[in-house]
Amino acid sequence: MPPPHPALSPIANDGGEGKISIVILASGRGSNFAALLAAQQRGDLPIRIRALLSDKSAAPALDIARAAGIGAIALSPRNFSDRAAFDRALFARAAEFRPDLIVLAGYMRVIDAAVVNEWHGRMINIHPSLLPKYPGLHTHARAIEAGDGVHGASVHFVTAQLDGGPVIAQAQIPVLDGDTPDTLAARLLPLEHRLLAASVDAIARHRIALGTHGVECDGKPLVAPLCPQADGSLRAVG
Ligand code: GAR
Repeated sequence: MPPPHPALSPIANDGGEGKISIVILASGRGSNFAALLAAQQRGDLPIRIRALLSDKSAAPALDIARAAGIGAIALSPRNFSDRAAFDRALFARAAEFRPDLIVLAGYMRVIDAAVVNEWHGRMINIHPSLLPKYPGLHTHARAIEAGDGVHGASVHFVTAQLDGGPVIAQAQIPVLDGDTPDTLAARLLPLEHRLLAASVDAIARHRIALGTHGVECDGKPLVAPLCPQADGSLRAVG
């Protein structure tokens, strides 16, 4: 396993409050970030969101952070010589907030492998497909074109393989006759919000971690992705 980032603090070391510190990366709208923020504000999640970082200076997600009084930082890839230089700078800014966990919530850039490895086990991503199906872009259109009856979203630990890290949990929806990529995306989004919140909750409560051989749930290897429940928890199904 790669060495952890030197700025990483042990999870939940903030004076016994039992809350983990989180930094969010987002490129656009920020509805997944907003959902996590709302859950934090309701007291439903044992987290503190320290900052929102973006690669797009016009990302609406930055406005959500500013309105909430959370650090909002944008760096432009155009100002760096290459991907690795940009990613080193962005993640150095993230590390200043000493996050226990980095959450990619609609962050649309591939991240340099060396930077990803520094955050091994401490970075998760939400992706709008039932991975390993449809890594990359246009997931809703690809599910419709393939004639899939079921579509969904996944939360996974981030590794150097794009959208290929170990899956923690998935939410599923049926693909309906007449669905377009837009209708499918709109129906999936509220489930994404619950899926991401439940996954973050499970990590913050030390139920989920990335072990040497993959995801561990309550100290045991996870054999299949968990599913979010109405009470906000994650459960095994089947
Ligand atoms: C979400 O649907 C998320 O799953 C997707 O971007 C959207 C962001 O929405 N992420 C990816 O496609 C990553 N490969 P949001 O900005 O409203 O949270």
